Amino acid sequence: MPYNFDQVHPRRNSDSIKWDAYPEDVLPLWVADMDFPSPAPVLAALQQRVAAGIFGYGSVAKELAETLCERLQQRYQWTVTPEHLIFLPNLVSGLNLVCRTFAKAGEAALVQTPIYPPFLSAPLNQGIKLQTLELTPQQRGKQLHYEIDELGFIASLTPETRLFLLCNPHNPVGRHFSRHELEALAKLCLQNDLIICSDEVHCDLNLDGQSHIPFATLSPEIAQRCITLLAPSKTFNIAGLGGSFAVVENPQLRKQLLAAMEGLIPHLNVLNSTAMLAAYQHGETWLQALIPYLRGNRDFLVNYLATHLPQLKTTIPEATYLAWLDCRDANLHNPYQFFLKQAKVAFNEGKSFGKGGEGFVRLNFGCPRSTLEMALERMREALEKR
Ligand SMILES: Cc1ncc(COP(=O)(O)O)c(C=O)c1O
Repeated sequence: MPYNFDQVHPRRNSDSIKWDAYPEDVLPLWVADMDFPSPAPVLAALQQRVAAGIFGYGSVAKELAETLCERLQQRYQWTVTPEHLIFLPNLVSGLNLVCRTFAKAGEAALVQTPIYPPFLSAPLNQGIKLQTLELTPQQRGKQLHYEIDELGFIASLTPETRLFLLCNPHNPVGRHFSRHELEALAKLCLQNDLIICSDEVHCDLNLDGQSHIPFATLSPEIAQRCITLLAPSKTFNIAGLGGSFAVVENPQLRKQLLAAMEGLIPHLNVLNSTAMLAAYQHGETWLQALIPYLRGNRDFLVNYLATHLPQLKTTIPEATYLAWLDCRDANLHNPYQFFLKQAKVAFNEGKSFGKGGEGFVRLNFGCPRSTLEMALERMREALEKR
């Protein structure tokens, strides 16, 4: 079935955080959801479920767990069984739960910045220390490319470091880390007896045909100390429904997590489990059409910036629909405010992503190309008028 990602679907006044947070004349390219309807089979499954009319407690978990295990096996040759899965309402609760369960007061979680802000708040929310180390930005031609700082990783560790919170693919710098890079991290985690929480929610959004490498598949030793967080929310644009899952192969870690969840963390509900099942069982054709469209948007963005806005440098995202723009050479006092006020385009402010984010903005290109083009033209005009 052909999908028309060029079609503009008005989202204003539709309960959308992204579209309703700013006045009507502002184009929102911030919060990480896409301006595309979800795959038709997901919509059909939800409509059918709603039409059934009764919303008592659901029992979809068994079929869903089997579907997830098959998918992990097919895509990554990752053998897990339904008992390894823990369903969660969303990933952010998973990050917080891991911090709460596996580190005690005085202990610390290490994260690589700039990073999706809940990685910075989860350790602090849960009363443990946050340790950060910066990914290393390198200029490649006119673009930016971020690398892992292995020596910095070692230097950042203290006897209190208990957890490493990994984001792969990485939001906001768009890296799909290579096997070589992941193995280097894995070695450091083993040497330093760390538990890893690997947020892999963007794993289906590799833009250049690379296969995602789940951190837990690097070795049996890593699998035993890894909690992997996954969801269909980004892939199939159903973030507003919630619903995610953790893969935890180590029975002891699983037991601890389940105990910490008891009475606090809700089960999936009948709508998000229906959507998750339909997305993973029948969403592949849509996903196969989405990826080239996102790749086209990324390439359009990178070319546009290089041609018309050379004062801004961008990453070339290998994965995700998020670009990370370095505005420091444009001499804007506050790039986020400048683009909001002068270009009427809303981004995420770089400094909320922690160290290394000052002077940057994050741009969401999960939208029709015409929306992206309009935003870029507004940015160009605003910069020219200065
Ligand atoms: C890396 C990453 N993790 C988690 C989330 C949020 O997931 P959830 O809505 O399931 O909490 C996002 C959303 O942008 C994200 O980029």
